[in-house]
Amino acid sequence: MDKKNEKINSILKKVIKIVKPDEEEIKTINITVNEVMGRLQKIINKNVELLLTGSVARGTNVRGNYDIDIFLLFNRNLKESEMEKKGLEIAKKIVNRNKNEKYIVKYAEHPYAMLILNDRAITVDLVPSFKIKNASERISAVDRTQLHNQFINNNFNEKLRDDVRLLKTFLNVNNIYGAEARIEGFSGYLCELLIFHYGSFLDALKHISEIKLPLIIDIKHKNTIYDDKLSNEMVKKFNKDFIVIDPVDENRNVAANISKESLSIFILKAREFFDFPDIKKFYGPKYSNINSRAYINELKNRFNLDIYVIAFKIPDIAEDIIWQQIKKLKYKIHEALKQNNFNSEISFQNISNKFGIICFFINKTDNSSKIIFGPDILMKDAVNSFIKKHKKSVLFINENKICTIEKQEYNTPKKLLNAIIDKKIFEFPSYLSKQKNSLYINNIPEKYAKILNEILHIKFLT
Ligand code: UTP
Ligand code: MN
Repeated sequence: MDKKNEKINSILKKVIKIVKPDEEEIKTINITVNEVMGRLQKIINKNVELLLTGSVARGTNVRGNYDIDIFLLFNRNLKESEMEKKGLEIAKKIVNRNKNEKYIVKYAEHPYAMLILNDRAITVDLVPSFKIKNASERISAVDRTQLHNQFINNNFNEKLRDDVRLLKTFLNVNNIYGAEARIEGFSGYLCELLIFHYGSFLDALKHISEIKLPLIIDIKHKNTIYDDKLSNEMVKKFNKDFIVIDPVDENRNVAANISKESLSIFILKAREFFDFPDIKKFYGPKYSNINSRAYINELKNRFNLDIYVIAFKIPDIAEDIIWQQIKKLKYKIHEALKQNNFNSEISFQNISNKFGIICFFINKTDNSSKIIFGPDILMKDAVNSFIKKHKKSVLFINENKICTIEKQEYNTPKKLLNAIIDKKIFEFPSYLSKQKNSLYINNIPEKYAKILNEILHIKFLT
């Protein structure tokens, strides 16, 4: 083994010691699982089965960073709406309010309950679903989970479990662990499948660092599809070029939620790790104690751009929904900037601790006047109406077109963005429309600078 491999292996050994739950933690998990299962047993009827799933059931949980997933498996002849209702009723019944316990309704395809057992750090997801034997019997998307459990537990040994923990940690540090809209990254189950397919964390990382797209992995047959005809079919079928076919359901791409950007981050970080192996690559920027304002100020100066940040409180609704709405709003503002001749070179969004921010890096343009191109001179009627419409301005001919130059109402990004947050230009998406917004230019309060910085630190290689 050469020196570099030795170094990498010793890093991974150290990391696994840190991220693998120790005996005490495993004991706490078991106590919590038994307690919740016990309470459930007492109140469910014979037609409902309980199943521990997710990373705890598969031994792929990362220390201090997972939930307990308990599934309530209902009979398939129950109506979906009934199944939903019963699931939440059961959750409600087992919460002990005297002990300050509570549950929060969360939304996936179906609502489910997240239990918060006050004195414990771990939360418990109680997910209602239908009991099935194979994917063809599936009614709701979460029904597959019970089959995932079987597949992983039939195929995994302790080394593979530890390698999943390494992969989850590596992805988490780079903010690409999780399939939710905010992350658009790799789910826990996908991590398990990648480790199963490549055989180890290092082999998975090596392959990803040298990835060619399209990449189609057929997990069930332990096969990477290279055949052009077949892979074209797959790309068409799933409308993606990174495809990991669920071994329990050939119609499901487990990598469907991964954005191009998340995949790119993974590829680059994987290459970086091989070039400069360092245990620090397993620790996140969250733990570093830098001055966010100073960092952002330095960036802005090096870019020679101005930073505009819109900050707002976010309402208490499902994160996926609010994230999509912020994304939509960001896009609308970006388009409005473009229409007014301001170049937003890059933009970001983030949410943290009930606050959201949207940020634009904008060129220092003074946009007091703007050229308006009219129609081709040959188009007689159109030219005449253009002349009529702009008769108060100076008209001229530029190549084959009639043109004018007009003074802009919003001649600075500040004026435009203020009009936008006052909702004078367009409506905001529903959940953002009632929130109070503030605009900051270059001088960003530390509270918001921190939220912005979380995302900048991930995306910037400096
Ligand atoms: P979790 O999101 O809790 O994942 O979903 P996990 O594997 O337990 O990972 P951590 O350690 O908590 O972060 C529980 C199970 O639900 C299914 C998978 O089978 C997963 O293991 N699931 C969840 C999916 O199939 N797809 C998803 O997008 C999310
Ligand atoms: Mn879990």
